[in-house]
Amino acid sequence: MFDSNNALSTKARNLKPSGIRKFFDLLSGREGVISLTVGQPDFATPWHIRDAGIDSIADGHTFYTSNRGTPELRSEISRYMDRRFGLSYCPENEILVTVGASEAIDLAIRALIDEEDEVIVPVPSFVCYGPLIEMCGGRVIPVETAPKDGFKLTPEALSDAVSEKTKLIILPYPSNPTGAILDREDLAALREVILKTPAVVLSDEIYAELTYGKKHTSIATLPDMKERTIVINGFSKAFAMTGWRLGFSCAPEALTEAMFKIHQYAIMCAPTVSQYAATEALKNGDDDIEIMKAEYDRRRKYLTKALSEIGLPCQCPEGAFYVFMKLSHCGLSSEEFCERLLEEHNVAIVPGTAFGDCGEGYARLSYAYSLDHLKEAVRRMDRFVKSLNYVAFL
Ligand SMILES: Cc1ncc(COP(=O)(O)O)c(C=O)c1O
Repeated sequence: MFDSNNALSTKARNLKPSGIRKFFDLLSGREGVISLTVGQPDFATPWHIRDAGIDSIADGHTFYTSNRGTPELRSEISRYMDRRFGLSYCPENEILVTVGASEAIDLAIRALIDEEDEVIVPVPSFVCYGPLIEMCGGRVIPVETAPKDGFKLTPEALSDAVSEKTKLIILPYPSNPTGAILDREDLAALREVILKTPAVVLSDEIYAELTYGKKHTSIATLPDMKERTIVINGFSKAFAMTGWRLGFSCAPEALTEAMFKIHQYAIMCAPTVSQYAATEALKNGDDDIEIMKAEYDRRRKYLTKALSEIGLPCQCPEGAFYVFMKLSHCGLSSEEFCERLLEEHNVAIVPGTAFGDCGEGYARLSYAYSLDHLKEAVRRMDRFVKSLNYVAFL
């Protein structure tokens, strides 16, 4: 009898399912759950952006666009990168419009990685890098970041991890799940190490707009870095456009061309409607970002304070919309804590181990949820933690 498992490639067969996905599966069918699991804005896309998408359909823009993305959108991206981050990229050959930042990450890895190439991945971090590297036969070199360093990649740790096989260094800041950011000084110290290697940097800046206090700095703005950096960004987080599936990469022409070739064969072009909407977002969306960011900031302050009051401390995140909460003193593993919290109090959060083994002893909470929602989650977690202490005391 035909067994489709035998038909799979070794690489596909060996791919582990995402730890976040596994936790979502536990949620399905449960009633009354307060979930803080999802990393997407709870705001609907602002109306003027939705209208631009609707108008594009009404006007009959229902065809493929240029493979690289519409010239208008690429010009807007070029202006945006200059205006917001002080980076200059040519719309014709240094910018590629992709299906979310996710596709841009995949393209960058596929364009650069051969069998046995090493890729530095700071952990804990977003879940897609490792599996995509492994699909190319590359070797993931995880570099643990520590709470004592604010979960920032340090030059010492980077220096210890690089070798003559290092092909790519991933810099996922602002960080999902820790909320850590790298400021200019941090980046300057990493640059000293990077410049001694032939490695390219993949700078995943999807949360660049969501920093609280300090403005985001891209490593590509540092001397001699732009030519070896692929900056990846997108519309999902800053403009509340996750479902529109639109992102982009900015990189020197040779790197962009290699990514473009793969994109052309695999995707053809990013969704047309979304490109029209995104053009409007970049033209007139700065105020939307500020409004949403102010709300995230309010929630961030509430949550960090409230969690420490109930005995679940976390570092105050400086970017993105997550807190990485410490659980180690509760006497349960991350998975046990999250499973029991869900079973006994109907609150869903993601175990830190979903973001790398070093996430043991932590859990990630997203604050892309309303303040009322967060308050109820905190009340329930308080009851749970108290019940654990009671058991421990007995
Ligand atoms: C760090 C990071 N990079 C990339 C992505 C993917 O974003 P997109 O929706 O643009 O594909 C996410 C989504 O959660 C993320 O957290």
